[in-house]
Amino acid sequence: MALKVTITSTKGGVGKTTLTANLGALLADLGQRVLLVDADVQPTLSSFYPLVSLAEKGLCGLITEATLDDVVSLTQIKNLDLIVSDDPQGALQNWILHSPDGRVRLKHLLCMFDNSYDVILIDTQGAVGPLQDAAVLAADLLLSPIPPEILSAREFTRGTLGMLERLQPMRFLGASVGPLYGVIYRIDRTIDARRIERELRKESAASQGQIQIMKTVVPATVAYRESATAQTPVHRWEVKRSGPTAPARDTMLALAHEFFPHLTDAVLP
Ligand SMILES: Nc1ncnc2c1ncn2[C@@H]1O[C@H](COP(=O)(O)OP(=O)(O)OP(=O)(O)O)[C@@H](O)[C@H]1O
Ligand SMILES: [Mg+2]
Repeated sequence: MALKVTITSTKGGVGKTTLTANLGALLADLGQRVLLVDADVQPTLSSFYPLVSLAEKGLCGLITEATLDDVVSLTQIKNLDLIVSDDPQGALQNWILHSPDGRVRLKHLLCMFDNSYDVILIDTQGAVGPLQDAAVLAADLLLSPIPPEILSAREFTRGTLGMLERLQPMRFLGASVGPLYGVIYRIDRTIDARRIERELRKESAASQGQIQIMKTVVPATVAYRESATAQTPVHRWEVKRSGPTAPARDTMLALAHEFFPHLTDAVLP
């Protein structure tokens, strides 16, 4: 069965797409068969890596026509496939809202990829809406990047946790909301960032398992931007670096191993 992970946050610009693309490519390089799903109207993930084959349809085709035919595009990276966002007008939101099974349809459709992939990573838009709900309900696990800035941290506590609470009743329709993992993301070396990190860890400890903050933190470094510009996974882009901050390859590997402990023995080429 494919493990479905939705990368979500009710705040925009926190690093969801960068994290989805880099985690996906790293897992693919570790030998996992990975499917990325771009569930954001702004198709940033869809163009993160060069494609070697563009399918006729994307997420809109998958959900509205309930067909798996010609919805999977292939990236240049071995083992890394993609369902593109093909909904420039944002019509899918409305479609999901007005279909009786709208919010749970993606969940059921993605199960049909269970034999083809080990991991499915779903990127979402940073705003509450029916498509974000559908992506959250399709996931076994949720992953939320949290920049340790006070506004992002507050929005995480208020918005993201609020969204999960709102969706909890969906479990009566067979779509439970998976556990939420927060990753302290784009952390800099300021005292303020460290203080907010401590606060988030304290809150998570008091949440009775509702959220878990990962041990691995992702630093703010230019490698993540540069590698995105070069359309290259960051673990390939920054293998070594000098100074106190770990190279992106080590950070992303540590995050993958923490999130997928069964891959600890898998090595990068
Ligand atoms: N670790 C990092 N260090 C520094 N900059 C980063 C890091 N990760 C991502 N960025 C930059 O932060 C910006 C926002 O990242 P990204 O687009 O991934 O966020 P997002 O949550 O997907 O945004 P949106 O809600 O608009 O979809 C981008 O310019 C990206 O290059
Ligand atoms: Mg994004």
